[in-house]
Amino acid sequence: MKIIQSIDEMQEFSQRARGEGKTIAFVPTMGYLHEGHASLMREGRNRADILVASIFVNPTQFGKGEDFETYPRDMERDSKIAAEAGVDVIFTPTAAEMYPAGYQTYVNVEGLSLPLCGASRPGHFRGVTTVVTKLFNIVRPHTSLFGRKDFQQLAVIRRMTADLNLGVEIVGMPIVREPDGLAMSSRNAYLSSEERQQALCLYKAMRQIAWLYRHGERSAKILRKVAVAEINAKPSAAVDYVELRNSVTLEEVTAADDATLLALAVKIGKTRLIDNCILGEESQDGA
Ligand code: PAF
Repeated sequence: MKIIQSIDEMQEFSQRARGEGKTIAFVPTMGYLHEGHASLMREGRNRADILVASIFVNPTQFGKGEDFETYPRDMERDSKIAAEAGVDVIFTPTAAEMYPAGYQTYVNVEGLSLPLCGASRPGHFRGVTTVVTKLFNIVRPHTSLFGRKDFQQLAVIRRMTADLNLGVEIVGMPIVREPDGLAMSSRNAYLSSEERQQALCLYKAMRQIAWLYRHGERSAKILRKVAVAEINAKPSAAVDYVELRNSVTLEEVTAADDATLLALAVKIGKTRLIDNCILGEESQDGA
């Protein structure tokens, strides 16, 4: 496995590979890899001749007072996980090269970036879409894979890729969970053992809503209220949002249906966690 830091070198590598008729799959990450990332990498491995993963903690997607400085970083551990998942190249640029002095160009997806995490974290998606555009221009992938845990991010990136004719196939992959249901996230590393227990309230609230939905409850107001009550029962938990939205437009719904997205963001102590499910899919597996 090769580790490339320079943008020029990465571009030359991709250009050469494309010139030889090879296909490139790409998994962008901020590192501190877990099984969720590894599942994207293994799928990328199956889909293309060359698999590139990036590790870059992107400063432009963090707001003031967020965890950019403390975001967990461990290149040695990440290299091992990436190599085992079949990655050919890790691209790990520096912030100074990605955003040199005088940098002033940003990519913004309008409607889809506004609700949910866009409302709680102003500027976050502008940072994500900017860095993903830059990474696509550097890595020049045919296919790129993203986890559905960041459901809104996936929707925003799909929109951007179509709107800007970027010519990259975007693949969304299922959420990977711990055996007890907690969605895997690099930020789980922040949780104390007590908080780790309480963090299960996101998954429990989702299961409860899916059960109610399966038994005929359709009122978004009632479903939301039940989820909020489940979460608020945990002393370390504070709801950022619990929302039922159309899974394509991300517009609010009053009556839930099979395509409704249930999206949650909850602070457990100082750690902000997100999770989601589509009600029709979740209620099929006996929730
Ligand atoms: O999902 C992430 O880890 C990041 O938002 C991404 C897509 C790598 C952009 O920095």
